[in-house]
Amino acid sequence: REIDWIRRKPEARRTKAKARIDRFDAAVAAAPGTDDQQPSKLALRLPTGPRLGGSIVELKKVTKSLGGKLLFKDLTLVMKPGDRIGIVGPNGVGKTTLIKTILGLEPPDAGQVVVGANTRPAYLEQGRTELRDELTVIEEVGEGYDYVDLPDGKVHVRGFLRMMAFPDSIGDTKIGKLSGGERNRVQLARLLRRGGNLLVLDEPTNDLDLPTLGALEDGLTHFPGCALIVSHDRWFLDRVATGILAFEGQGKVTFYEGSYSFYVERRAKPDAVAKADRKADTRAKPVAAARKLTFKEARELEGIEDAIAMAEARVKELEGALSDPNVFKDRPGEVPLMVERLETARADVERLFARWQELEAISRGRE
Ligand SMILES: Nc1ncnc2c1ncn2[C@@H]1O[C@H](COP(=O)(O)OP(=O)(O)O)[C@@H](O)[C@H]1O
Ligand SMILES: [Mg+2]
Repeated sequence: REIDWIRRKPEARRTKAKARIDRFDAAVAAAPGTDDQQPSKLALRLPTGPRLGGSIVELKKVTKSLGGKLLFKDLTLVMKPGDRIGIVGPNGVGKTTLIKTILGLEPPDAGQVVVGANTRPAYLEQGRTELRDELTVIEEVGEGYDYVDLPDGKVHVRGFLRMMAFPDSIGDTKIGKLSGGERNRVQLARLLRRGGNLLVLDEPTNDLDLPTLGALEDGLTHFPGCALIVSHDRWFLDRVATGILAFEGQGKVTFYEGSYSFYVERRAKPDAVAKADRKADTRAKPVAAARKLTFKEARELEGIEDAIAMAEARVKELEGALSDPNVFKDRPGEVPLMVERLETARADVERLFARWQELEAISRGRE
């Protein structure tokens, strides 16, 4: 599979990639049976809370402004069982405020928020940790409980941390000794341990390393309850979200049923009619003149530039990890996941870049 993308790459990239693959092969060859020495990998399963009722969360024409800025207007949304909704949009548009409005922590200016009687939210607040420095990680995550109730039975808090791909050694470490990123991970573990049937996660992935990110994805996709997740990580959303709630500017927030990729397709490509129109135009005027991008296309272009930057950052991060010999030595079990992620990130860059070129071409009249 790795060979596949190397074949597709221009010559210039091959040498670097080749060195990486050689190292990969060498590491695999030199580490027979390494898998046996790894603590057996446990899939993350999450406590589910009580069964959700017929009504989960319902927004009826909800409108909210803050500091004179309209954040969302007439937003209507009915959550269905099994919905895992990704909330996306640039910083400062009102994603966090929307979550707080849903949870009743912020009053709407107009409209109604109805939360079902059986809905038990578990809320991970963005950038906020309230942990006690003198406790150990096990104590803080367990909060007096030794075991976590999972659908398949009880598991010790230590086992739960292992499911989240935390290193075993962290359990007995005092919170006060942790780095900022580690604290955030502990906060997430504690929240997931508490459980609920509506997980509300505000940018949960920023401080996660790849193994924990992978575990969370797996845990969420097997989670029988509902979730609302704010994230800029499209790769993550693509795996876990069943629908996307997109802030599209001027208070317009639109729900798109389906995966993140599907949302990007529908948002990015002009609808069928617009496409047909453009074809007709081209036929009438064989040499297409440059034209100004429509408002929608211009906005798409901006979004794509951000998305490319993000995908490229992901590629760089993974390339860095995969060119570090220690990774192959110390964490060989993670390598296949990293390779898979790298492939996806590279494919994202290519696809987004192609669309970016297309839009640029339109504006320069070379369609
Ligand atoms: N207490 C507040 N008073 C006035 N404006 C606020 C307050 N809290 C947030 N805002 C503004 O509301 C907007 C939305 O914030 P937020 O919901 O945190 O956005 P996001 O989570 O999408 O980054 C921001 O432009 C922010 O400046
Ligand atoms: Mg926010």
